[in-house]
Amino acid sequence: MAAKRIGILTSGGDCAGLNAVIRAVVLRAAALGWTVVGIRQGTHGLLVRPPLVTTLEPGACGAEMLRRGGTVLGTTNHGDPFDYPMPDGSRCDRSAEVIEGWRMLGLDALIGVGGDGSLAILRRLARQGDIPLVGVPKTIDNDIGLTESAIGYQTAVAVATEALDRLQPTAASHNRVMVLEVMGRDAGHIALASGIAGGADVILIPEIPYDFAAVTAHLRSIEAAGRSFALVVVAEAVLTDEGRPVRQGAGSYGGIGHYVAGRIHALTGAETRVTVLGHVQRGGAPTAGDRLLASALGVRAVELIAQGRFDRMVAWVNRQVGDVPILQAIEHYQAVDPDGAIVATARGLGICLGDAPGLGA
Ligand code: F6P
Repeated sequence: MAAKRIGILTSGGDCAGLNAVIRAVVLRAAALGWTVVGIRQGTHGLLVRPPLVTTLEPGACGAEMLRRGGTVLGTTNHGDPFDYPMPDGSRCDRSAEVIEGWRMLGLDALIGVGGDGSLAILRRLARQGDIPLVGVPKTIDNDIGLTESAIGYQTAVAVATEALDRLQPTAASHNRVMVLEVMGRDAGHIALASGIAGGADVILIPEIPYDFAAVTAHLRSIEAAGRSFALVVVAEAVLTDEGRPVRQGAGSYGGIGHYVAGRIHALTGAETRVTVLGHVQRGGAPTAGDRLLASALGVRAVELIAQGRFDRMVAWVNRQVGDVPILQAIEHYQAVDPDGAIVATARGLGICLGDAPGLGA
């Protein structure tokens, strides 16, 4: 097989494990005698002239890269080339420029590491520009379909769990209700998983409508049983009880934890405190699970290119690395299944999900 030159870019919000994927791609490609070109700042790097690129040398992809947070290539989660925000406030389709930038590089294939939004944009570009594309799923939100885990998710859950481990002693020492707000965009995976792992009493997620009567009844039952503190986890996309999302300005979610804490205080008189975990869930060293996942998916992405199989996303399914059509993965949005095993686990543990008092529905 002729030696190839392949490109890789990271797109969307950063997360732990991106450098581990880049490393895996470079090492597997090097073993095949190929060269890997890193495209900087996601698709933005293809809009700049000359395009922003760097050759990724296997010698620079040692084990330290497995441990490193962020992405050495940089990324962006705005600047959709099909709807690009211009300095004068207008929007412009700059997809042809991105494709031209890609062609200038003369590469044989592209590995795009992104969440569902980024993969949808990359796929559109690939179809328009005839770019041989392989997708790699990453997002702390874990909402991409057809893969059990996306890169970054396990680390975000570990960080949120550690936060609960650290909040619990303070809750107990001060007889407080500690509210932890976690990320996840429109999905409650991080809240649910970390809430179970960290021993939360109440977990509120956007997939399950809640009622403060149920939450306060549960907190009162805890107090009646002789415990004077509690841990509450709230996913950022949970709505107020009037059905309003809470955002930081016009953009990202943020602040529902303060709302929930205020209402709990008003309804129960409990002393409450709020921690909004924010971007610490995205940064820092990946967990072992994310390093393993990133390594497996990176290796498989190179192998798909070697096999000439494009428009596919590598995926982790049933203890195996597989691959699925990118379109199916992005069309299959993966919210928390209210009837699934993880929700059943929470209910089985007596965790209140806000929809019924006491031990849940
Ligand atoms: O999609 C990942 C994510 O971290 C979400 O969980 C969160 O809502 C959003 O990105 C935050 O985006 P930004 O980094 O632009 O604030």
